[in-house]
Amino acid sequence: MKSRIPSEQECLELIAEVGLASAVVMHSISVKKLALALADDVEKRGMAVNRPLVSAAALLHDIKKMDAEVCHGIEGGDFLRKKGFHEVASVVEKHCLINLDDPYFVPKTTEEKIIMYSDLRVSTGKVVTLDERFDYIKKRYKPKNPKAFQEYIAFAKQLEWELLGKVDGRKD
Ligand SMILES: [Fe+2]
Repeated sequence: MKSRIPSEQECLELIAEVGLASAVVMHSISVKKLALALADDVEKRGMAVNRPLVSAAALLHDIKKMDAEVCHGIEGGDFLRKKGFHEVASVVEKHCLINLDDPYFVPKTTEEKIIMYSDLRVSTGKVVTLDERFDYIKKRYKPKNPKAFQEYIAFAKQLEWELLGKVDGRKD
């Protein structure tokens, strides 16, 4: 069967099927809202965006957040691929900074970039700047590999530049 993008209803059914915690669902809805607002900005800059793909991938990017064994992004992709949603799987599996060492998992399409970037800009229910987000991660998780952490920041800022042409994310 040909792969297709799940509708909003199907996304919500998948979320219900795995029993995703409400905090993760709220986060995913916030990411979706921001991702679609960013899609507007990106389109204004002349880039094409597959909006249904952005919307579904935002809702489903953390679908395996609660029961992943190694990486919830990669395992979320596997889960969605098994359901026949290959395009969304391909976006979801590339949203985690920790996998950037593997070229396959580096976001390349505009939709993949929007999802990784939007996820970074939503923290504890609020839209924040990249600096605020990384400061929070630094204080809360005390990264064990400072060099890798700096690389994550550099990559996120590069994404911001590619998508929005600026180096400090807006809050609105
Ligand atoms: Fe995630």
